[in-house]
Amino acid sequence: MSKQFDVVVIGGGPGGYIAAIRAAQLGFQVACIDEWKNAAGGPAPGGTCTNVGCIPSKALLQSSEHFEHANHHFAEHGITAKDVKMDVAKMIARKDNVVKQNNDGILYLFKKNKVTFFHGRGSFAGKAEGGYTINVAGKTEEAITAKQVIIATGSNARALPGTPFDEVNVLSNDGALRVGAVPKKLALIGSGVIGLEMGSVWRRLGADVTILEGLPTFLGAVDEQIAKEAKKAFDKQGLKIELGVKVGEIVNGKKGVTVNYTNAKGEAIVLDADKLIVSIGRVPNTIGLNAEAIGLAVDERGAIVVDGDCKTNVPGVWAVGDVVRGPMLAHKAEEEGVAVAERIAGQHGHVNFNTIPWVIYTSPEIAWVGRTEQQLKADGVAYKAGTFPFLANGRARALGDTTGMVKFLADATTDEILGVHMVGPQVSELISEAVVAMEFKASAEDIARICHAHPSLSEATKEAALAVDKRTLNF
Ligand code: FAD
Ligand code: NAI
Repeated sequence: MSKQFDVVVIGGGPGGYIAAIRAAQLGFQVACIDEWKNAAGGPAPGGTCTNVGCIPSKALLQSSEHFEHANHHFAEHGITAKDVKMDVAKMIARKDNVVKQNNDGILYLFKKNKVTFFHGRGSFAGKAEGGYTINVAGKTEEAITAKQVIIATGSNARALPGTPFDEVNVLSNDGALRVGAVPKKLALIGSGVIGLEMGSVWRRLGADVTILEGLPTFLGAVDEQIAKEAKKAFDKQGLKIELGVKVGEIVNGKKGVTVNYTNAKGEAIVLDADKLIVSIGRVPNTIGLNAEAIGLAVDERGAIVVDGDCKTNVPGVWAVGDVVRGPMLAHKAEEEGVAVAERIAGQHGHVNFNTIPWVIYTSPEIAWVGRTEQQLKADGVAYKAGTFPFLANGRARALGDTTGMVKFLADATTDEILGVHMVGPQVSELISEAVVAMEFKASAEDIARICHAHPSLSEATKEAALAVDKRTLNF
Protein backbone atom coordinates (compact mmCIF):
# COMPACT_ATOMS: atom_id res chain seq x y z
CA MET A 1 0.00 0.00 0.00
CA SER A 2 1.60 3.24 -1.11
CA LYS A 3 1.78 6.23 1.19
CA GLN A 4 -1.01 8.71 0.53
CA PHE A 5 -0.52 12.48 0.62
CA ASP A 6 -2.78 15.41 -0.23
CA VAL A 7 -0.05 17.19 -2.17
CA VAL A 8 3.20 15.84 -3.62
CA VAL A 9 5.80 18.30 -4.89
CA ILE A 10 8.41 16.98 -7.35
CA GLY A 11 11.55 19.13 -7.09
CA GLY A 12 12.93 20.88 -4.03
CA GLY A 13 14.26 24.10 -5.57
CA PRO A 14 12.81 27.51 -4.66
CA GLY A 15 9.61 26.74 -6.57
CA GLY A 16 9.14 23.31 -5.02
CA TYR A 17 10.25 23.68 -1.42
CA ILE A 18 8.34 26.92 -0.96
CA ALA A 19 5.20 25.37 -2.50
CA ALA A 20 5.55 22.41 -0.12
CA ILE A 21 5.91 24.65 2.95
CA ARG A 22 2.96 26.85 1.97
CA ALA A 23 0.77 23.80 1.27
CA ALA A 24 1.69 22.36 4.68
CA GLN A 25 0.87 25.71 6.33
CA LEU A 26 -2.56 25.47 4.72
CA GLY A 27 -3.19 22.15 6.48
CA PHE A 28 -2.36 19.60 3.77
CA GLN A 29 -0.36 16.38 4.21
CA VAL A 30 2.60 17.21 1.98
CA ALA A 31 5.58 15.35 0.53
CA CYS A 32 8.46 16.91 -1.39
CA ILE A 33 10.75 14.75 -3.55
CA ASP A 34 14.17 16.05 -4.57
CA GLU A 35 17.05 14.14 -6.09
CA TRP A 36 19.97 16.61 -5.68
CA LYS A 37 22.95 14.96 -3.96
CA ASN A 38 25.73 16.67 -2.03
CA ALA A 39 29.34 15.49 -2.38
CA ALA A 40 28.73 12.72 0.17
CA GLY A 41 25.64 11.50 -1.69
CA GLY A 42 23.26 12.95 0.91
CA PRO A 43 20.26 15.17 0.28
CA ALA A 44 20.88 18.74 -0.85
CA PRO A 45 17.49 20.38 -1.30
CA GLY A 46 17.31 23.90 -2.73
CA GLY A 47 17.76 23.05 -6.39
CA THR A 48 19.82 24.98 -8.89
CA CYS A 49 19.38 28.15 -6.85
CA THR A 50 20.96 26.80 -3.68
CA ASN A 51 23.47 24.33 -5.13
CA VAL A 52 24.78 25.79 -8.39
CA GLY A 53 22.98 29.09 -8.90
CA CYS A 54 21.90 32.15 -6.92
CA ILE A 55 23.55 31.34 -3.59
CA PRO A 56 27.00 30.00 -4.58
CA SER A 57 27.40 32.64 -7.31
CA LYS A 58 26.71 35.39 -4.79
CA ALA A 59 29.19 33.83 -2.36
CA LEU A 60 31.92 33.94 -5.01
CA LEU A 61 30.93 37.43 -6.11
CA GLN A 62 31.33 38.56 -2.49
CA SER A 63 34.74 36.90 -2.04
CA SER A 64 36.07 38.24 -5.32
CA GLU A 65 34.76 41.72 -4.54
CA HIS A 66 36.64 41.72 -1.22
CA PHE A 67 39.77 40.73 -3.15
CA GLU A 68 39.24 43.52 -5.68
CA HIS A 69 38.72 46.06 -2.87
CA ALA A 70 41.81 44.95 -1.02
CA ASN A 71 43.88 45.23 -4.19
CA HIS A 72 42.48 48.38 -5.71
CA HIS A 73 40.35 50.39 -3.29
CA PHE A 74 41.72 50.02 0.24
CA ALA A 75 44.55 52.46 -0.56
CA GLU A 76 42.03 55.29 -1.11
CA HIS A 77 40.96 54.79 2.53
CA GLY A 78 44.56 54.93 3.73
CA ILE A 79 44.76 51.19 4.25
CA THR A 80 47.91 49.44 3.09
CA ALA A 81 47.34 45.87 2.05
CA LYS A 82 50.48 44.26 0.67
CA ASP A 83 50.81 40.82 -0.91
CA VAL A 84 47.08 40.26 -1.07
CA LYS A 85 46.57 36.67 -2.15
CA MET A 86 43.54 34.63 -3.00
CA ASP A 87 43.36 31.07 -1.75
CA VAL A 88 40.90 29.75 -4.33
CA ALA A 89 40.43 26.43 -2.53
CA LYS A 90 39.43 28.31 0.64
CA MET A 91 37.09 30.58 -1.27
CA ILE A 92 35.40 27.54 -2.85
CA ALA A 93 35.22 25.76 0.53
CA ARG A 94 33.54 28.84 2.05
CA LYS A 95 31.06 28.87 -0.84
CA ASP A 96 30.37 25.15 -0.28
CA ASN A 97 29.71 25.84 3.38
CA VAL A 98 27.27 28.64 2.52
CA VAL A 99 25.47 26.18 0.23
CA LYS A 100 25.38 23.54 2.98
CA GLN A 101 23.89 26.00 5.47
CA ASN A 102 21.11 26.64 3.00
CA ASN A 103 20.56 22.89 2.30
CA ASP A 104 20.37 22.24 6.05
CA GLY A 105 18.06 25.20 6.51
CA ILE A 106 15.57 23.74 4.04
CA LEU A 107 15.66 20.31 5.71
CA TYR A 108 14.97 22.06 9.03
CA LEU A 109 12.05 23.98 7.46
CA PHE A 110 10.57 20.72 6.15
CA LYS A 111 10.68 19.26 9.66
CA LYS A 112 9.27 22.40 11.22
CA ASN A 113 6.37 22.46 8.76
CA LYS A 114 5.82 18.66 8.81
CA VAL A 115 6.64 18.22 5.13
CA THR A 116 7.75 14.63 4.43
CA PHE A 117 10.97 14.73 2.42
CA PHE A 118 11.97 11.99 -0.01
CA HIS A 119 15.51 11.97 -1.38
CA GLY A 120 15.40 10.50 -4.87
CA ARG A 121 13.96 10.87 -8.33
CA GLY A 122 10.21 11.20 -8.66
CA SER A 123 8.51 9.87 -11.77
CA PHE A 124 4.87 9.43 -12.68
CA ALA A 125 3.72 5.81 -12.61
CA GLY A 126 0.20 6.69 -13.68
CA LYS A 127 -3.22 7.59 -12.39
CA ALA A 128 -4.41 6.09 -9.14
CA GLU A 129 -7.73 6.16 -7.39
CA GLY A 130 -8.37 9.82 -6.58
CA GLY A 131 -5.00 11.03 -7.87
CA TYR A 132 -1.61 9.95 -9.15
CA THR A 133 1.04 7.43 -8.23
CA ILE A 134 4.61 8.64 -8.19
CA ASN A 135 7.59 6.33 -7.92
CA VAL A 136 10.48 7.59 -5.82
CA ALA A 137 13.83 6.07 -6.74
CA GLY A 138 16.46 6.86 -4.14
CA LYS A 139 18.45 4.53 -1.92
CA THR A 140 15.26 2.50 -1.87
CA GLU A 141 12.27 2.52 -4.18
CA GLU A 142 8.76 3.32 -3.09
CA ALA A 143 5.51 4.59 -4.51
CA ILE A 144 3.47 7.43 -3.10
CA THR A 145 0.11 8.78 -4.18
CA ALA A 146 -1.47 12.20 -4.07
CA LYS A 147 -4.57 13.99 -5.30
CA GLN A 148 -2.59 17.08 -6.24
CA VAL A 149 0.91 17.15 -7.73
CA ILE A 150 3.11 20.22 -8.18
CA ILE A 151 5.98 19.80 -10.63
CA ALA A 152 8.97 22.06 -9.92
CA THR A 153 11.78 20.24 -11.71
CA GLY A 154 13.67 23.37 -12.78
CA SER A 155 16.09 23.77 -15.66
CA ASN A 156 19.52 22.75 -16.92
CA ALA A 157 22.25 24.72 -18.69
CA ARG A 158 21.98 24.74 -22.47
CA ALA A 159 25.06 23.36 -24.25
CA LEU A 160 26.31 24.57 -27.62
CA PRO A 161 25.55 21.96 -30.28
CA GLY A 162 28.60 19.71 -30.67
CA THR A 163 30.30 21.06 -27.53
CA PRO A 164 29.14 19.06 -24.49
CA PHE A 165 30.00 20.24 -21.00
CA ASP A 166 32.89 18.23 -19.56
CA GLU A 167 33.04 20.53 -16.49
CA VAL A 168 36.84 20.46 -16.79
CA ASN A 169 37.48 22.78 -19.73
CA VAL A 170 33.98 23.44 -21.04
CA LEU A 171 31.96 24.58 -18.08
CA SER A 172 28.29 25.09 -17.35
CA ASN A 173 27.26 27.13 -14.31
CA ASP A 174 28.08 24.04 -12.25
CA GLY A 175 31.76 23.81 -13.25
CA ALA A 176 32.10 27.61 -13.36
CA LEU A 177 31.38 27.67 -9.62
CA ARG A 178 34.11 25.19 -8.69
CA VAL A 179 37.12 26.07 -10.80
CA GLY A 180 40.16 25.02 -8.75
CA ALA A 181 42.57 27.78 -9.74
CA VAL A 182 42.25 31.16 -11.42
CA PRO A 183 42.44 30.51 -15.18
CA LYS A 184 44.91 32.74 -17.00
CA LYS A 185 42.57 33.12 -19.92
CA LEU A 186 38.85 32.60 -19.57
CA ALA A 187 36.39 32.68 -22.44
CA LEU A 188 32.63 32.87 -21.99
CA ILE A 189 29.93 32.51 -24.59
CA GLY A 190 26.84 34.59 -23.85
CA SER A 191 26.94 37.96 -22.12
CA GLY A 192 23.68 37.45 -20.27
CA VAL A 193 23.27 37.25 -16.54
CA ILE A 194 25.55 34.28 -15.88
CA GLY A 195 28.21 35.47 -18.35
CA LEU A 196 28.47 38.83 -16.61
CA GLU A 197 28.35 37.49 -13.04
CA MET A 198 30.82 34.64 -13.59
CA GLY A 199 33.01 36.75 -15.87
CA SER A 200 33.19 39.35 -13.09
CA VAL A 201 34.18 36.80 -10.44
CA TRP A 202 37.14 35.42 -12.39
CA ARG A 203 38.23 38.82 -13.79
CA ARG A 204 38.43 40.22 -10.26
CA LEU A 205 40.63 37.26 -9.31
CA GLY A 206 43.04 37.99 -12.15
CA ALA A 207 41.78 36.07 -15.20
CA ASP A 208 41.95 37.67 -18.64
CA VAL A 209 38.24 37.42 -19.50
CA THR A 210 36.62 37.61 -22.95
CA ILE A 211 32.86 37.30 -23.30
CA LEU A 212 31.48 36.52 -26.76
CA GLU A 213 27.90 37.60 -27.39
CA GLY A 214 25.87 36.68 -30.44
CA LEU A 215 23.52 39.65 -30.37
CA PRO A 216 24.66 43.08 -31.57
CA THR A 217 23.18 44.83 -28.51
CA PHE A 218 24.44 44.55 -24.95
CA LEU A 219 21.80 43.36 -22.45
CA GLY A 220 18.90 43.89 -24.82
CA ALA A 221 16.27 43.33 -22.10
CA VAL A 222 17.71 46.12 -19.95
CA ASP A 223 16.80 49.81 -20.36
CA GLU A 224 19.22 51.08 -23.04
CA GLN A 225 20.54 54.00 -20.96
CA ILE A 226 21.25 51.70 -18.02
CA ALA A 227 22.85 49.01 -20.21
CA LYS A 228 25.11 51.66 -21.80
CA GLU A 229 26.22 52.92 -18.38
CA ALA A 230 26.91 49.35 -17.20
CA LYS A 231 28.90 48.53 -20.35
CA LYS A 232 31.05 51.63 -19.78
CA ALA A 233 31.87 50.42 -16.27
CA PHE A 234 32.65 46.84 -17.42
CA ASP A 235 34.90 48.16 -20.22
CA LYS A 236 36.79 50.25 -17.66
CA GLN A 237 37.28 47.18 -15.46
CA GLY A 238 38.84 45.28 -18.37
CA LEU A 239 35.99 42.84 -18.92
CA LYS A 240 36.25 42.30 -22.68
CA ILE A 241 32.79 41.92 -24.19
CA GLU A 242 32.55 41.32 -27.94
CA LEU A 243 29.08 41.82 -29.37
CA GLY A 244 27.62 40.50 -32.63
CA VAL A 245 29.94 37.51 -32.92
CA LYS A 246 29.22 34.22 -34.65
CA VAL A 247 30.74 31.33 -32.78
CA GLY A 248 32.19 28.63 -35.04
CA GLU A 249 34.18 25.52 -34.24
CA ILE A 250 35.19 24.90 -30.64
CA VAL A 251 38.10 22.57 -29.98
CA ASN A 252 38.33 21.12 -26.50
CA GLY A 253 41.99 20.09 -26.33
CA LYS A 254 44.38 18.82 -23.70
CA LYS A 255 45.71 22.27 -22.80
CA GLY A 256 42.47 24.18 -22.99
CA VAL A 257 39.80 25.32 -25.39
CA THR A 258 40.07 27.06 -28.74
CA VAL A 259 37.08 29.07 -29.86
CA ASN A 260 36.88 30.07 -33.52
CA TYR A 261 34.53 32.93 -34.16
CA THR A 262 33.71 35.71 -36.57
CA ASN A 263 33.58 39.16 -35.03
CA ALA A 264 31.09 41.94 -35.83
CA LYS A 265 33.40 43.20 -38.59
CA GLY A 266 33.36 39.78 -40.24
CA GLU A 267 36.95 38.94 -39.28
CA ALA A 268 37.82 35.35 -38.37
CA ILE A 269 39.31 35.19 -34.87
CA VAL A 270 40.89 32.31 -32.96
CA LEU A 271 40.61 32.62 -29.19
CA ASP A 272 42.65 30.30 -26.99
CA ALA A 273 41.51 29.96 -23.40
CA ASP A 274 42.27 27.76 -20.42
CA LYS A 275 38.58 27.41 -19.65
CA LEU A 276 35.33 28.12 -21.48
CA ILE A 277 32.07 28.91 -19.72
CA VAL A 278 29.01 28.45 -21.91
CA SER A 279 26.17 30.64 -20.60
CA ILE A 280 23.67 30.83 -23.45
CA GLY A 281 20.49 30.25 -21.49
CA ARG A 282 18.82 27.29 -19.82
CA VAL A 283 16.38 24.58 -20.85
CA PRO A 284 13.41 23.36 -18.81
CA ASN A 285 14.03 20.00 -17.16
CA THR A 286 11.58 17.12 -17.38
CA ILE A 287 14.21 14.37 -17.58
CA GLY A 288 13.09 11.22 -15.81
CA LEU A 289 9.69 12.60 -14.87
CA ASN A 290 7.89 10.14 -17.16
CA ALA A 291 5.42 12.89 -18.04
CA GLU A 292 3.99 10.63 -20.79
CA ALA A 293 2.50 8.28 -18.18
CA ILE A 294 -0.16 10.88 -17.38
CA GLY A 295 -0.30 12.57 -20.82
CA LEU A 296 1.27 15.83 -19.64
CA ALA A 297 1.64 18.42 -22.43
CA VAL A 298 5.20 19.67 -23.00
CA ASP A 299 5.99 22.39 -25.60
CA GLU A 300 8.72 22.42 -28.27
CA ARG A 301 11.20 24.01 -25.80
CA GLY A 302 10.61 21.20 -23.34
CA ALA A 303 8.62 23.42 -20.96
CA ILE A 304 5.53 22.01 -19.29
CA VAL A 305 2.52 23.79 -20.76
CA VAL A 306 0.56 25.72 -18.12
CA ASP A 307 -2.13 28.37 -18.06
CA GLY A 308 -1.90 31.68 -16.18
CA ASP A 309 -2.65 29.81 -12.93
CA CYS A 310 0.12 27.17 -13.44
CA LYS A 311 -2.46 24.47 -14.22
CA THR A 312 -1.25 21.83 -16.68
CA ASN A 313 -3.52 19.99 -19.13
CA VAL A 314 -3.91 17.20 -16.54
CA PRO A 315 -6.43 17.88 -13.74
CA GLY A 316 -4.78 18.17 -10.32
CA VAL A 317 -1.27 18.50 -11.78
CA TRP A 318 0.41 21.91 -11.59
CA ALA A 319 3.85 23.16 -12.64
CA VAL A 320 5.90 26.15 -11.43
CA GLY A 321 9.29 27.82 -11.81
CA ASP A 322 11.94 27.28 -14.49
CA VAL A 323 10.12 24.27 -15.96
CA VAL A 324 7.29 26.53 -17.19
CA ARG A 325 7.09 29.75 -19.24
CA GLY A 326 8.25 33.10 -17.87
CA PRO A 327 11.51 34.41 -16.48
CA MET A 328 13.87 31.86 -14.94
CA LEU A 329 14.21 33.52 -11.55
CA ALA A 330 14.13 32.03 -8.07
CA HIS A 331 11.68 34.60 -6.71
CA LYS A 332 9.32 34.03 -9.69
CA ALA A 333 9.42 30.27 -8.93
CA GLU A 334 8.67 30.95 -5.25
CA GLU A 335 5.74 33.25 -6.00
CA GLU A 336 4.24 30.64 -8.32
CA GLY A 337 4.77 27.92 -5.69
CA VAL A 338 2.89 29.93 -3.05
CA ALA A 339 0.11 30.86 -5.46
CA VAL A 340 -0.42 27.22 -6.52
CA ALA A 341 -0.56 25.96 -2.91
CA GLU A 342 -3.16 28.65 -2.17
CA ARG A 343 -5.18 27.77 -5.29
CA ILE A 344 -5.23 24.11 -4.23
CA ALA A 345 -6.66 25.32 -0.91
CA GLY A 346 -9.39 27.20 -2.78
CA GLN A 347 -7.79 30.60 -2.21
CA HIS A 348 -6.96 33.21 -4.84
CA GLY A 349 -3.18 32.97 -5.15
CA HIS A 350 -1.81 35.61 -7.48
CA VAL A 351 1.51 36.41 -9.19
CA ASN A 352 1.96 39.87 -10.69
CA PHE A 353 4.32 39.32 -13.64
CA ASN A 354 4.55 43.09 -14.17
CA THR A 355 6.33 43.65 -10.87
CA ILE A 356 8.91 40.87 -10.86
CA PRO A 357 12.27 42.52 -10.21
CA TRP A 358 15.48 41.56 -12.02
CA VAL A 359 18.94 41.96 -10.53
CA ILE A 360 22.37 41.33 -12.04
CA TYR A 361 24.88 41.10 -9.21
CA THR A 362 27.88 42.58 -10.99
CA SER A 363 29.69 45.67 -9.82
CA PRO A 364 28.00 48.01 -10.51
CA GLU A 365 24.82 46.05 -9.86
CA ILE A 366 21.97 46.33 -12.35
CA ALA A 367 18.34 46.13 -11.21
CA TRP A 368 15.00 46.90 -12.71
CA VAL A 369 11.26 46.44 -12.47
CA GLY A 370 8.56 47.26 -15.01
CA ARG A 371 8.93 48.47 -18.55
CA THR A 372 12.05 49.95 -20.15
CA GLU A 373 12.09 53.20 -22.13
CA GLN A 374 12.38 51.25 -25.38
CA GLN A 375 9.36 49.10 -24.45
CA LEU A 376 7.25 52.16 -23.61
CA LYS A 377 8.18 53.68 -26.99
CA ALA A 378 7.28 50.43 -28.77
CA ASP A 379 3.98 50.28 -26.85
CA GLY A 380 3.20 53.92 -27.82
CA VAL A 381 2.88 55.00 -24.18
CA ALA A 382 3.41 58.69 -23.38
CA TYR A 383 5.86 58.83 -20.46
CA LYS A 384 8.11 61.14 -18.45
CA ALA A 385 11.62 60.12 -17.42
CA GLY A 386 13.69 61.24 -14.45
CA THR A 387 17.25 60.21 -13.63
CA PHE A 388 19.58 60.87 -10.73
CA PRO A 389 23.28 59.94 -10.75
CA PHE A 390 24.98 58.35 -7.73
CA LEU A 391 27.74 60.92 -8.33
CA ALA A 392 25.48 63.43 -6.58
CA ASN A 393 24.59 61.14 -3.66
CA GLY A 394 26.47 61.74 -0.40
CA ARG A 395 26.37 58.13 0.79
CA ALA A 396 27.73 56.88 -2.56
CA ARG A 397 30.62 59.36 -2.27
CA ALA A 398 31.31 58.17 1.28
CA LEU A 399 31.24 54.55 0.08
CA GLY A 400 33.64 55.45 -2.69
CA ASP A 401 31.36 54.14 -5.42
CA THR A 402 29.53 56.76 -7.45
CA THR A 403 29.00 54.74 -10.63
CA GLY A 404 25.56 54.73 -12.19
CA MET A 405 22.12 56.17 -11.67
CA VAL A 406 18.50 55.60 -10.78
CA LYS A 407 15.93 56.17 -13.51
CA PHE A 408 12.16 56.51 -13.17
CA LEU A 409 9.66 56.19 -16.00
CA ALA A 410 6.18 57.47 -15.21
CA ASP A 411 2.97 57.87 -17.18
CA ALA A 412 2.88 61.34 -18.78
CA THR A 413 -0.72 61.95 -17.70
CA THR A 414 -1.28 60.05 -14.45
CA ASP A 415 2.34 60.02 -13.15
CA GLU A 416 1.93 56.29 -12.32
CA ILE A 417 5.33 54.58 -12.16
CA LEU A 418 5.77 52.33 -15.20
CA GLY A 419 9.36 51.26 -14.71
CA VAL A 420 12.35 51.85 -12.45
CA HIS A 421 15.87 51.08 -13.66
CA MET A 422 19.08 51.21 -11.69
CA VAL A 423 22.77 50.68 -12.15
CA GLY A 424 25.10 51.35 -9.26
CA PRO A 425 26.08 50.29 -5.75
CA GLN A 426 23.70 47.99 -3.84
CA VAL A 427 20.80 48.57 -6.22
CA SER A 428 19.78 44.93 -5.60
CA GLU A 429 18.44 46.24 -2.30
CA LEU A 430 17.15 49.60 -3.57
CA ILE A 431 14.91 48.00 -6.22
CA SER A 432 12.51 46.64 -3.58
CA GLU A 433 11.16 50.11 -2.88
CA ALA A 434 10.29 50.46 -6.56
CA VAL A 435 8.60 47.03 -6.56
CA VAL A 436 6.45 48.00 -3.57
CA ALA A 437 5.62 51.34 -5.18
CA MET A 438 4.54 49.70 -8.45
CA GLU A 439 2.57 46.99 -6.66
CA PHE A 440 0.61 49.77 -4.92
CA LYS A 441 0.31 51.68 -8.21
CA ALA A 442 2.19 54.64 -6.75
CA SER A 443 2.96 57.77 -8.73
CA ALA A 444 6.48 59.18 -9.02
CA GLU A 445 5.28 62.03 -6.82
CA ASP A 446 4.36 59.54 -4.06
CA ILE A 447 8.00 58.45 -3.85
CA ALA A 448 9.21 62.03 -4.13
CA ARG A 449 7.10 62.98 -1.09
CA ILE A 450 8.30 60.11 1.13
CA CYS A 451 11.03 60.85 3.69
CA HIS A 452 14.19 58.82 2.92
CA ALA A 453 16.98 58.43 5.48
CA HIS A 454 20.05 60.61 5.04
CA PRO A 455 22.69 59.79 4.06
CA SER A 456 21.53 56.72 2.16
CA LEU A 457 21.68 55.40 -1.37
CA SER A 458 17.87 55.34 -1.28
CA GLU A 459 17.92 59.12 -1.54
CA ALA A 460 18.92 58.60 -5.18
CA THR A 461 15.57 56.83 -5.64
CA LYS A 462 13.70 59.78 -4.15
CA GLU A 463 15.72 62.23 -6.24
CA ALA A 464 15.08 60.28 -9.46
CA ALA A 465 11.36 60.42 -8.63
CA LEU A 466 11.71 64.19 -8.13
CA ALA A 467 13.55 64.35 -11.47
CA VAL A 468 10.41 63.10 -13.23
CA ASP A 469 8.92 66.50 -12.32
CA LYS A 470 12.25 68.23 -13.07
CA ARG A 471 12.81 69.27 -9.46
CA THR A 472 15.80 67.38 -8.11
CA LEU A 473 17.22 69.04 -5.00
CA ASN A 474 20.79 67.76 -5.11
CA PHE A 475 21.62 67.78 -8.80
P1 FAD B 1 15.46 24.40 -9.58
O1 FAD B 1 16.07 25.34 -8.62
O2 FAD B 1 16.24 24.02 -10.78
O3 FAD B 1 15.11 23.09 -8.73
C1 FAD B 1 14.63 21.94 -9.32
C2 FAD B 1 14.95 20.77 -8.40
O4 FAD B 1 14.20 19.65 -8.84
C3 FAD B 1 16.41 20.34 -8.41
O5 FAD B 1 16.86 20.13 -7.11
C4 FAD B 1 16.40 19.03 -9.18
O6 FAD B 1 17.41 18.13 -8.77
C5 FAD B 1 15.04 18.50 -8.79
N1 FAD B 1 14.47 17.53 -9.74
C6 FAD B 1 14.36 17.62 -11.07
N2 FAD B 1 13.72 16.55 -11.57
C7 FAD B 1 13.42 15.77 -10.51
C8 FAD B 1 12.75 14.54 -10.38
N3 FAD B 1 12.23 13.90 -11.42
N4 FAD B 1 12.64 14.00 -9.13
C9 FAD B 1 13.16 14.63 -8.05
N5 FAD B 1 13.79 15.81 -8.12
C10 FAD B 1 13.91 16.36 -9.34
N6 FAD B 1 17.74 33.49 -9.95
C11 FAD B 1 17.51 34.57 -9.17
O7 FAD B 1 16.37 34.92 -8.95
N7 FAD B 1 18.57 35.28 -8.62
C12 FAD B 1 19.85 34.93 -8.83
O8 FAD B 1 20.76 35.58 -8.33
C13 FAD B 1 20.11 33.81 -9.66
N8 FAD B 1 21.38 33.42 -9.88
C14 FAD B 1 21.60 32.32 -10.65
C15 FAD B 1 22.92 31.96 -10.90
C16 FAD B 1 23.20 30.86 -11.70
C17 FAD B 1 24.63 30.49 -11.97
C18 FAD B 1 22.12 30.08 -12.22
C19 FAD B 1 22.39 28.87 -13.06
C20 FAD B 1 20.81 30.44 -11.97
C21 FAD B 1 20.53 31.57 -11.20
N9 FAD B 1 19.23 31.99 -10.95
C22 FAD B 1 19.01 33.09 -10.19
C23 FAD B 1 18.07 31.24 -11.47
C24 FAD B 1 17.47 30.33 -10.39
O9 FAD B 1 18.48 29.46 -9.92
C25 FAD B 1 16.30 29.54 -10.94
O10 FAD B 1 15.37 30.42 -11.54
C26 FAD B 1 15.61 28.76 -9.83
O11 FAD B 1 16.50 27.88 -9.21
C27 FAD B 1 14.42 27.99 -10.37
O12 FAD B 1 13.82 27.31 -9.34
P2 FAD B 1 12.98 25.96 -9.58
O13 FAD B 1 12.47 25.56 -8.25
O14 FAD B 1 12.04 26.15 -10.69
O15 FAD B 1 14.06 24.90 -10.12
P1 NAI C 1 20.73 34.62 -20.52
O1 NAI C 1 19.50 34.37 -21.29
O2 NAI C 1 20.72 35.63 -19.44
O3 NAI C 1 21.90 35.05 -21.53
C1 NAI C 1 22.30 34.24 -22.59
C2 NAI C 1 23.06 35.11 -23.58
O4 NAI C 1 23.70 34.26 -24.49
C3 NAI C 1 22.17 36.05 -24.37
O5 NAI C 1 22.70 37.35 -24.34
C4 NAI C 1 22.18 35.44 -25.76
O6 NAI C 1 22.03 36.40 -26.77
C5 NAI C 1 23.54 34.79 -25.80
N1 NAI C 1 23.65 33.67 -26.73
C6 NAI C 1 22.77 32.65 -26.92
N2 NAI C 1 23.25 31.79 -27.83
C7 NAI C 1 24.45 32.26 -28.23
C8 NAI C 1 25.45 31.80 -29.14
N3 NAI C 1 25.29 30.67 -29.83
N4 NAI C 1 26.57 32.54 -29.30
C9 NAI C 1 26.75 33.68 -28.60
N5 NAI C 1 25.85 34.17 -27.73
C10 NAI C 1 24.72 33.46 -27.53
O7 NAI C 1 21.19 33.18 -19.99
P2 NAI C 1 22.28 32.75 -18.91
O8 NAI C 1 23.24 33.85 -18.65
O9 NAI C 1 22.76 31.43 -19.35
O10 NAI C 1 21.42 32.55 -17.61
C11 NAI C 1 20.28 31.70 -17.63
C12 NAI C 1 19.20 32.24 -16.77
O11 NAI C 1 19.52 32.03 -15.40
C13 NAI C 1 18.99 33.75 -16.88
O12 NAI C 1 18.18 34.10 -17.97
C14 NAI C 1 18.33 34.05 -15.60
O13 NAI C 1 16.96 33.78 -15.75
C15 NAI C 1 18.95 33.07 -14.64
N6 NAI C 1 19.98 33.76 -13.86
C16 NAI C 1 19.60 34.80 -13.06
C17 NAI C 1 20.53 35.49 -12.34
C18 NAI C 1 20.10 36.65 -11.53
O14 NAI C 1 18.91 36.80 -11.33
N7 NAI C 1 21.02 37.46 -11.02
C19 NAI C 1 21.95 35.13 -12.34
C20 NAI C 1 22.24 34.06 -13.27
C21 NAI C 1 21.27 33.39 -13.96
